[in-house]
Amino acid sequence: MWMADAPVILCLVTLPGEGAVNGTIVLDHAILAATSLGYGTCWIGAYDADKVKDVLKIPKDYGIVCLTPVGVPAEYPNERPRKKPAELFMKEQFGSELDYSL
Ligand SMILES: Cc1cc2nc3c(=O)[nH]c(=O)nc-3n(C[C@H](O)[C@H](O)[C@H](O)COP(=O)(O)O)c2cc1C
Repeated sequence: MWMADAPVILCLVTLPGEGAVNGTIVLDHAILAATSLGYGTCWIGAYDADKVKDVLKIPKDYGIVCLTPVGVPAEYPNERPRKKPAELFMKEQFGSELDYSL
């Protein structure tokens, strides 16, 4: 229910038969833009698609990929620990170690 406090909730809807890739790029850019303006978001994948379609009057053959609330953050928690770049990136070949000297 915490989402209900947000003044705006974006819902990413895809055309019938279309994949989610282009839409996720759009929403990702919207999230980055909102963040740059000082707003908070949260990628939401846990929802009842049929109920969301009912509320927003989205035709049954359209898809929903995700939602995100957008609003002024209620709190600013410390950043959580992040994986090191060497755990996330590979160079040239899968499984290779990233060489920072290059
Ligand atoms: C595919 C996906 C689905 C998510 N679904 C939910 C969700 O349903 N509810 C929620 O509170 N957060 C959801 N999140 C947000 C994550 O719980 C987490 O807060 C967010 O990815 C930020 O993580 P970070 O602190 O590692 O950057 C989702 C994130 C992703 C990537």
